[in-house]
Amino acid sequence: MEKIQVINNGVLGSINQAAIDALTAEGQAGLSKLINGNGAGNDFLGWVKLPEETDAALLDDINATAAQLRDNCEVVVAIGIGGSYLGAKAVIEALSNSFAAYAPSNTPKVLFAGQNIGEDYLAELSDFLKGKKFGIIVISKSGTTTEPAIAFRLLKDQLVAELGREEANKRIVAITDAKRGALRTLADTEGYKTYVIADNVGGRFSVLTPVGLLPIAVAGFDIHALVKGAREMMTATLDGSDKSAMTYALTRNALYRDGKKIEILVKYNPKLHFVGEWWKQLYGESEGKDGKGIFPAAVDNTTDLHSMGQWIQEGERTIFETVLSVANPDRELRIPTDEANLDGLNYIAGKRVDEVNKMAELGTRIAHMDGGVPNIRVVIPSISAYYLGQLIYFFEVACGISGYILDVNPFNQPGVEAYKKNMFALLEKPGYEDATAAIKARL
Ligand code: PA5
Repeated sequence: MEKIQVINNGVLGSINQAAIDALTAEGQAGLSKLINGNGAGNDFLGWVKLPEETDAALLDDINATAAQLRDNCEVVVAIGIGGSYLGAKAVIEALSNSFAAYAPSNTPKVLFAGQNIGEDYLAELSDFLKGKKFGIIVISKSGTTTEPAIAFRLLKDQLVAELGREEANKRIVAITDAKRGALRTLADTEGYKTYVIADNVGGRFSVLTPVGLLPIAVAGFDIHALVKGAREMMTATLDGSDKSAMTYALTRNALYRDGKKIEILVKYNPKLHFVGEWWKQLYGESEGKDGKGIFPAAVDNTTDLHSMGQWIQEGERTIFETVLSVANPDRELRIPTDEANLDGLNYIAGKRVDEVNKMAELGTRIAHMDGGVPNIRVVIPSISAYYLGQLIYFFEVACGISGYILDVNPFNQPGVEAYKKNMFALLEKPGYEDATAAIKARL
């Protein structure tokens, strides 16, 4: 089996190997906290062994539900935000044809809602769904998050208006807590098909639960292969035979301690854009607390070399890069020869487009190292469900180890509540009367 590789020699002009090795004991302690469940946030470690605990029967059941939605819908809207959105979006975008949205297909289109409070977005989505056979997967672990609740209320009303309550309820699947939350109550009352998000799996670690798996299966991708990739990475990481997650965690923390406060995830394959968004949430929510944490940013090159490239090359030297590199594209396309050669491109005629992309990647890495931007490389053999499964688990476990090296609880997100409290106060939510008075006095 080919595996993800982590290559960290691109940091050695900035820090030395001894600085990385010095963190080994802390990294090992972090990994054993994850395995033994004796670190901060240990009630949220359900994801650690999830890939081996996910049995084929659950995956088959998810595939059966997906098949039902696929048979009955032209469009399926996955409603959720944060961890209840980004994992599915990342995997679907990575595996989809880049122009699938514009091409006719027998597979239902998977669209997303509840990841914003955009009035135009929701109104345009509602217009788009008019007259189409659509279904809804509503995902909220807490079952109380405002953004998906608004989207669900709107789209559920539309579905009920079109089909009547009984038929509409057959096209709705809810993924939520086993017992708690408004969505659980509603799902039980209406008799929706449901899946449970385990108490001990936090939102941003939930892509390999039904939260991610059902939308991914509806989009037509192989969830057995996804989980298999994660399972093999899990086994090799937890038994110590694969050190890639450890190397990544140690290296980024050594850089952080050396003053590199910002990590930029760099991709050269545009299909990985949302892997970057998922990764930002995973690391940002896990590490950004107690006045600490690497700020996670992401760019898509070479596109962003023409926008952010200047800053990265010559701006403040507080950054490092993690380059997510894909060894082999799926398709082969060569640059044609042109007799007139007015564009001067004949020197690369006959080369694969990917070879040019790879030279851009290598040239940029060298330029950035010369410019004081160390880089770590994470190489995946190709973009497939299996390797994305490996990559997801790799980033999750490295995040847990990293958070423990940083000495934070990687599994809570207390800071997310601050905006909600103010928003509820401003909206005069019952129960927030004092907060409403206090915030209005500040305006
Ligand atoms: O990682 C997290 O816990 C959060 O980002 C949540 O995923 C996000 O806030 C959505 O929460 P919920 O699934 O409860 O609606």
